[in-house]
Amino acid sequence: MKDGTGRSAVLIQNPFGRDHLDLGGAWPVIVDPRAPGLHPPLPGRDISGLVQGRVAGGGLELVEFAFTNARTLETGRDWNTQQAQLFFYESAIWHRRDFTAGKKSGRRYLLHFGAVNYRADVWLNGAYIGAHEGGYTPLAFDVTDALGEGDNFLIVKADARLDAATVPPLVTDWWNYGGIKREVLLLSLPDTYIRDYWIRLDDLATRRVRASFFLDGAAGGAEIELSLPELGETARAVVNDAGVAEVDFHTEAELWSPHRPQLYDVEIRCNGETIRDRIGFRTVERRGADILLNGEPVFLKGISAHDESPRHDGSAYGIEDARALLSLARELNCNFVRLAHYPHHQFVARLADEIGLLIWSESPVYWQIAWDDAATLQNARAQVRAMVERDRNRCSVVIWSVGNETPPTEPRLAFLKALIEEVRQLDDTRLVSAAIYGRDRDVRQPVVNTIRARLLTDAEVTEGTKTPVRDALLAAGVDADDRAALERLALAPRLSIDDPLSDYIDVIAWNEYFGWYYASQWAATVPIDEATMARMFLDLMGELAFDPAADKPLIVTEFGADAKAGFEGDDVTMMSETYQLRIYELQLAMLARSRKLRGLSPWVLKDFRSPLRTHPVYQDYYNRKGLVDETGARKKAFAYLQKIYDRLGDAPLQFMERKIAARDGPG
Ligand code: GCU
Repeated sequence: MKDGTGRSAVLIQNPFGRDHLDLGGAWPVIVDPRAPGLHPPLPGRDISGLVQGRVAGGGLELVEFAFTNARTLETGRDWNTQQAQLFFYESAIWHRRDFTAGKKSGRRYLLHFGAVNYRADVWLNGAYIGAHEGGYTPLAFDVTDALGEGDNFLIVKADARLDAATVPPLVTDWWNYGGIKREVLLLSLPDTYIRDYWIRLDDLATRRVRASFFLDGAAGGAEIELSLPELGETARAVVNDAGVAEVDFHTEAELWSPHRPQLYDVEIRCNGETIRDRIGFRTVERRGADILLNGEPVFLKGISAHDESPRHDGSAYGIEDARALLSLARELNCNFVRLAHYPHHQFVARLADEIGLLIWSESPVYWQIAWDDAATLQNARAQVRAMVERDRNRCSVVIWSVGNETPPTEPRLAFLKALIEEVRQLDDTRLVSAAIYGRDRDVRQPVVNTIRARLLTDAEVTEGTKTPVRDALLAAGVDADDRAALERLALAPRLSIDDPLSDYIDVIAWNEYFGWYYASQWAATVPIDEATMARMFLDLMGELAFDPAADKPLIVTEFGADAKAGFEGDDVTMMSETYQLRIYELQLAMLARSRKLRGLSPWVLKDFRSPLRTHPVYQDYYNRKGLVDETGARKKAFAYLQKIYDRLGDAPLQFMERKIAARDGPG
């Protein structure tokens, strides 16, 4: 597709705060499952006519596509949930937008997209503009030269195809919602404009604010004025020849926090442009195993969430969807939300700033990535950079995550270290993490050996059952005939949660599924039948404890269980609300024994669509670990977690260790 003339996409800070024409709406489309590039152009299907805006001439002219009289799709929404035929669709769709624009000399014009999943190719008035890969971060192209005075036509090919080299990869446990899912704006800017700015509290003790700016088209010597009108504070910075300006000043601003989400109007003026934003001033740091917000330890009472809205089917977008999601987290008494597994739309962090929620933002480096592929790393770097640059003015964002559940191999370590370096270069004021699942030798092996020892020391277990277990324990290097050793082994271990990544991240974030996956995954290695393993696990959860070896905070970023809302069941029936509740009770009692636990974000706020969850009765393409289902129906575990978080107040979970009994909840 690219004829080599494509220009690179850039990221423009605060696009809605610029002079803009909103191009969102119903666009005519051509669904093109065999997207060009997969086959030679056929007569009448040579898309060069399509992108040139050729209209079927009728008569003897063969043209086999047209936007006139075509179906339309709304931008700002995925295509999967707009038309039933597109529910499973993951290939290419051509979109056309005709619009009228004024064009003034001495102005620059940028075409900004909030996100296009997964790849976008853009033409304007027949000229190829460029391509962008990555379905969850903004992209903008300078189209000044291609924009016409008056009528224009814009063609966007959105291609949702993923593969082994994309980020995310082909296999994910969430729906690959395709299309122009967020905003499309035509921005009008001065010939030298502020492309990026970053304003943050840089030093708590002295209340020093640092403001950084980048001018595009910079003429060295230009002056930027930054003011906080409510505080009567103003600072000025002079741009250097590279277009960069920095200024420090001390502020009287009140600190931002979840209890007091104090934001200030900010005005930035340069070259005739005034940009307005709202900024909160706070610091977040790590001291040993504590997370400090404004110098004080904080416990993250969180929940994980995908960017789906309780208001409608499909991907979320816009202030109302953000409000629906964060209101649900607020109702749960959360002070923290893990936005999994990719950057959510920009309204979420902006609203979190306003209402006082702490945010974990994550890049879609998920499961099996092409760790050795240089282009994949380049793509991941670009997506991490865009994630940070878009939201680093959002005080609610406290943790950047460079991945989720990736295998602890050397190629992965090198890949993630490069991403961590990228983040730290862009932002030295926040914590960096990645959700891990722990090493086999730290988690599965000790637990399996404890299960084996318990079976061998249980007089009621038959010799037939014991024999293979004994053999497995001997093979694991344990003297299965040493009774005292077995009895020691049968005691629940305090597990060490570590990963080669532990040295490079600030927060150890651990996904664990005790009570859900592990019995089915590990029973065969004991060996024992799954139901027995599951029962032994439920007992063991009452004794297990965890801590990272590193002197760093632990956040349990995932635990949970599927439950079909309305299926009451009982506490030994998976997929039932009662069993989900039991897992929450056991998990919270278990995690309260962890000395370095400084937060949790159970999986997951709302049932979400997934191609991997196909059970026709319980799932039907929904992952049902939500505390509410897609209709907003609350499950039993919702009220339980809500109560625990309410009782906690600002205290860590350990505060309730004595009170959280596995069956009756907090007193
Ligand atoms: C995984 C993963 C999630 C997934 C969840 C589950 O650990 O991080 O993306 O949806 O667990 O299995 O439900």
